[in-house]
Amino acid sequence: MKLQRRSLLAGATASLAAFAPNAWAQGYPTKPITVVVPFAAGGPTDALARVLCQKMSEHLGQQLVVENIGGAGGTIGVNKVAKANSDGYTLLFTHMGTLAVNIALYKSLPYDSQKDLEPIGLGGTNPMVLVTKKDLPAKTFQEFQAYVKANQKKVQYGMAGIGAASHLGGLMLNSMMKVEVLEIPYKGTGPALNDLVSGQFDYMVDQAVNVLPQINSGNIKALGVSTLKRLPQLPDVPTIDEAGLKGYEVTIWNGLFGPKGMAKEQIAKVNEALGKTLADAAVSKRLTELAVDLPSKEEATPEALRKQLTASIDKWVPAVKAAGVKPE
Ligand code: MLT
Repeated sequence: MKLQRRSLLAGATASLAAFAPNAWAQGYPTKPITVVVPFAAGGPTDALARVLCQKMSEHLGQQLVVENIGGAGGTIGVNKVAKANSDGYTLLFTHMGTLAVNIALYKSLPYDSQKDLEPIGLGGTNPMVLVTKKDLPAKTFQEFQAYVKANQKKVQYGMAGIGAASHLGGLMLNSMMKVEVLEIPYKGTGPALNDLVSGQFDYMVDQAVNVLPQINSGNIKALGVSTLKRLPQLPDVPTIDEAGLKGYEVTIWNGLFGPKGMAKEQIAKVNEALGKTLADAAVSKRLTELAVDLPSKEEATPEALRKQLTASIDKWVPAVKAAGVKPE
């Protein structure tokens, strides 16, 4: 009899446990969700996050509120989410620089991107553009390269901190051009771009989504793109590879993550909202115009993002080490 009561109780506990996460996810989300962007407002990660979050809020029936936590190449914001409560109300929108590239650039990171985060879905991949201040005395990539080589002591390039996308783009460029120039770090390429427009430093390699409007307004010059094919948005700008640095190719994927331990049902719900958002005609038109390459259905799953992260670590950690950059 005693035994029977115990097994009845055990059965009740087991079925409650099986039911609880689903029930939790069914109501989820019941309040606004914070989405940490680990760079300053007004930059590429912020821009992409805001477009996606606005539409995702409609699908989830709750606001996704972007919180910018810039600094230290994005590591401060990523670390905040890596250590956050995994209740589904703190998420992270970031790019591969902060999760893969920076492993080669810091002696020690406060988080392990593969162990401390749950991938939710890919948000889009961005080409980069080499942009210079308007009055830099170089009209072509070849003239730029010659100018930088001849003026290494005074030339300055802007980037968003160690391990940022603009750091990766710049360090690969500088290493392939065999130049050493002064780095000017910012909390994001949003503020860096403002300073480039006002001529406070010489050049930067930044994601197209951020720089295209200023290129089109004639406030900065575009001298090369980071993909192996020219961009339809900049048909007259050569690829850096065709302009002389054979093999130069850098693109930046962005993705949505939660802290480790976030419930699978919640991940599925947020992923579904992200998928619907990426399939939305107005969102896709807007992002495609800004040269964002949107993921296919197969590329948009949490598992595909996990694989993407591993592939980027495998690709970029040795490549950055080979470029000779010493970890800080
Ligand atoms: C930003 O959003 O400011 C950029 O993605 C920074 C960078 O990584 O270059």
